[in-house]
Amino acid sequence: MIKIAVLVSGGGSNLQAILDYKAAGHIPNGEVCLVISSKQGAYALQRAKNHQIDTLVIERRQFSKNEDFCAALKGALQAYQIDLIVLAGFMCILTKEFTDFYAGRIINVHPSLIPSFCGEGYYGLRVHQAALDYGVKVTGATVHFVNEITDGGKILLQRAVEVQEGDTPETLQKRVMEQAEWILLPQAVEMLSDTMEQTKKAGERK
Ligand code: GAR
Repeated sequence: MIKIAVLVSGGGSNLQAILDYKAAGHIPNGEVCLVISSKQGAYALQRAKNHQIDTLVIERRQFSKNEDFCAALKGALQAYQIDLIVLAGFMCILTKEFTDFYAGRIINVHPSLIPSFCGEGYYGLRVHQAALDYGVKVTGATVHFVNEITDGGKILLQRAVEVQEGDTPETLQKRVMEQAEWILLPQAVEMLSDTMEQTKKAGERK
């Protein structure tokens, strides 16, 4: 079984989508073993507890240096022998040391069609505000591997979503979540855990 950690900072609806997909019989080769929140009191923590999943709070503001924050994350992930890391509304930047260490084993969901409306400063509702300000007619979501460049890693999955007349950042966010994020992220987790499990088994046979 591929051990999965989901890193969150907020509501955790993407975490919920993964847990629901698993409960429906998907993701046969993966198990969410740990949820780490960068914020105390994030509702995502409650969602994890409802599924009897271990939770940790590692707050960015408790560390003066990002290197120390990432070292604490890495320590926790190693203690749980995590194979695959899923950033699901995780609002912190990871160091190059961290993303190099977990290269090919960290994915993120971003609420736009990368390379539009992404990079530093583009997160949560700000992404949808920027799409509305620009006046695009189509936006969407992207699941990508994470490297040292914010939202810059190789794209795994993308799905387009229509912008509608009269949309607010909130209505657009909801549509992008329902029609793209909550579908793509669980699929990507399934795909990667299948591939990783196959690689693991092939290694064991050698
Ligand atoms: C999601 O829309 C996610 O794509 C976005 O934050 C929201 C978290 O919602 N992530 C980013 O903007 C990262 N750059 P959730 O906590 O309900 O899953």
